[in-house]
Amino acid sequence: MTKILSTGAYLPKKVLTNDDLSKIVETNHEWIFERTGIAERRICSTDGGEWPTDMAEKAAKQALKTANITPNDIDMIIFASVTPDMKLPNSASILQTKLEITNKCTCLDIAVACSGFVYGVNMADSFIKTGMAKKVLVVGSEMLSREVNWSDRSICILFGDGCGVAIVGETPAGESSEIHATHLGSDGSGKEFFHQKIGGAVEPITSTHLKESTHFMTMKGREMFKVATRTLAENAKMVCKKSGISLDEVDWLVPHQANIRIIETTGKLLGFPPEKVIVNIQKYGNTSAATIPIAFHEAIEEGKIKRGDKVLFDAFGAGLTFGSTLLTY
Ligand SMILES: CC(C)(COP(=O)(O)OP(=O)(O)OC[C@H]1O[C@@H](n2cnc3c(N)ncnc32)[C@H](O)[C@@H]1OP(=O)(O)O)[C@@H](O)C(=O)NCCC(=O)NCCS
Repeated sequence: MTKILSTGAYLPKKVLTNDDLSKIVETNHEWIFERTGIAERRICSTDGGEWPTDMAEKAAKQALKTANITPNDIDMIIFASVTPDMKLPNSASILQTKLEITNKCTCLDIAVACSGFVYGVNMADSFIKTGMAKKVLVVGSEMLSREVNWSDRSICILFGDGCGVAIVGETPAGESSEIHATHLGSDGSGKEFFHQKIGGAVEPITSTHLKESTHFMTMKGREMFKVATRTLAENAKMVCKKSGISLDEVDWLVPHQANIRIIETTGKLLGFPPEKVIVNIQKYGNTSAATIPIAFHEAIEEGKIKRGDKVLFDAFGAGLTFGSTLLTY
């Protein structure tokens, strides 16, 4: 059996409110809050100290302390991000040195957008169950402020920066904490709904792209909205079916924080009580792979989620990737 041993999170110090945004683009707090549930978001410093691997270092040190283990007890790092520090080397390897891990553990980056943390936890579960690893540090860390077009009001209002982590390991004998079931997938036919085509091998960034601001993320908001609600509801049903645990038995739903209306609609589709849904989108916006681990960590810190509770992670993102996890914390 496997379990989540501990969690951690780091949020950048700088707060950007909706009122601040209204000075940059033609928008206002009421529009943003009513349509998305977001009031403010955090933005990484560009002076250093808050790069994705810096945030991960701080969050991981917290998780290591809570789990009462040393950095060298980690034998695999899975780093989920679409905004890595740099193209090469991978962020997991950079984090390994920042944490002073000297055991030459496996360091793997995954780029599955907002489903990244759930992919990471589910992969960690498999690696541990097949004996490939014992303690896996799973990271979701994003600096989306770098990839957002700050003059496009349809997108810049939605995103923020932040990091959340979890350490996954074997369940000690006699304990009941367990990752019961996992579900992962992707539907590449929806790739046009949310993409960033410029800057890869096919079309490297040129001065024209920079001048025309065509190198940023582009999204079809309405299409994403519809797919998201349907996908999140299907994810939850699928992982319940796989685990043999009914949705009624789930104590907490921790959904990807993309839009409060997506979260509420999903809850309604599932008939799941809103008071059992963890929501923190008002403070941080959509931090992609980091939303679920930050929300999960905060809910534990606030005393909402307790050991023994049944928790369902539910994610979707560009790709269109999706995934869910059902666990007893
Ligand atoms: C992006 C999103 C908030 C837009 O909400 P919406 O209700 O679909 O709004 P629309 O895009 O239809 O725009 C409605 C109007 O508001 C305007 N508008 C758009 N952005 C605005 C802003 N920031 N401030 C004020 N007005 C804005 C539009 O121009 C449009 O005006 P019009 O009717 O005069 O043409 C919503 O579609 C959404 O959240 N989608 C999901 C996105 C998502 O989760 N992506 C991440 C997936 S991991």
